[in-house]
Amino acid sequence: MSGRRHLLELASLSTGEIERLLDLAESFDSIGRRQIKKVPTLRGRTVVNLFMEASTRTRSSFELAAKRLSADTLNISGGSSSVVKGETLLDTALNLAAYRPDIIVLRHQYAGAPHLLAQHINASIVNAGDGAHEHPTQGLLDLLTIRQHKRRIAGLKVAIIGDITHSRVARSGIVGLSKLGAEVVVCGPPTMVPVGVEALGCRATHQREEAVADADVVMMLRIQKERLAEELFPSDREYARYYGLNREVLRRARPDCLVMHPGPINRGVELDADVADGPQSVILDQVSAGVAVRMAVLYHCAGGGEEGGA
Ligand code: CP
Repeated sequence: MSGRRHLLELASLSTGEIERLLDLAESFDSIGRRQIKKVPTLRGRTVVNLFMEASTRTRSSFELAAKRLSADTLNISGGSSSVVKGETLLDTALNLAAYRPDIIVLRHQYAGAPHLLAQHINASIVNAGDGAHEHPTQGLLDLLTIRQHKRRIAGLKVAIIGDITHSRVARSGIVGLSKLGAEVVVCGPPTMVPVGVEALGCRATHQREEAVADADVVMMLRIQKERLAEELFPSDREYARYYGLNREVLRRARPDCLVMHPGPINRGVELDADVADGPQSVILDQVSAGVAVRMAVLYHCAGGGEEGGA
């Protein structure tokens, strides 16, 4: 609805809007390092977390972000809502909107679900992941993590490896990284790299070694078996052999290359345990950055910061 600030995707944000959200997140990051991790910024505001798909990181960090800003939170999950009795998403959202929340955070299995709510619901809508479309706050937290470690994004080579076709994380990552000037290379089996992916702002290859060579960042993706209608690779073992990240393959990257993964990890499939837990892994830093990013997004959508921002 007009007059509300939403965060539906990174694709429709400008480079400046993304950078302002990252700057805002940097400023909120310090709150999580204090002994008293709470500020009154959103006191009296209400945030509804409506998660129609499973989540550990996104859901918990949105809740923590809202609480650290002193907002009231309401958490609804699909499996324990009246959706199981046949209520539609729109009816569910209209009923929750009757409580006059300021923000509804939605995770949904269908691409475009947050856009639908933004058209019909009188609240700011934040996309917490919609089908295989986008996961904008994951894209922002990945950018923030890279910026915190490398002090820049422009000019870095970032390899994104895995099931590009079904990954909303990959889509937001490619869009955000390319807008901020990184060289993005995506890699996966031919069955998992969509034709025309280059239009998002990346190069594509099916050779893992080529993608990893001299990379500043390697971002591994989870094999999303819940989104695969058919088997797109022969076996987990075969996938790990040709597209997984192990210590030997990582040696081809720059010595200070960051290893990232949005979680949850299929250990031994896309990522070996000793790499996931190794010195180059910043996977838990990504989780920490998620709280700061979600604080920034909630603050922005509640009307804070510059007028007419992201
Ligand atoms: N990265 C991510 O979206 O994790 P969850 O599914 O646990 O929220």
